[in-house]
Amino acid sequence: MPVIAVGLITEFEQAEAIVGTGDADLIALARTVLYNPRWPWHAAAHFGAQVKVPDQYLRSQPRQYPDLFDIGH
Ligand SMILES: Cc1cc2nc3c(=O)[nH]c(=O)nc-3n(C[C@H](O)[C@H](O)[C@H](O)COP(=O)(O)O)c2cc1C
Repeated sequence: MPVIAVGLITEFEQAEAIVGTGDADLIALARTVLYNPRWPWHAAAHFGAQVKVPDQYLRSQPRQYPDLFDIGH
């Protein structure tokens, strides 16, 4: 049964540790995302991962994260 952890998850490393250690399969964010709706993008940038974005956002990719947006090739 998939397990989702929720409550007081605010930091990228904290979130990654919960999933990476197998404590839970997914994390859920409430207040953290109310405060910063782009938190998942910032987390992806922090870990060198990629995110899929609508085409309209492609021009907003930060210079310091040139591979953040998955452009599908
Ligand atoms: C604006 C807001 C509305 C919420 N409404 C409900 C609700 O109707 N029922 C419920 O069980 N929990 C509700 N919660 C609690 C969340 O489900 C969650 O357990 C809690 O916010 C912990 O996650 P967080 O620390 O990431 O905010 C709400 C939380 C927020 C911030």
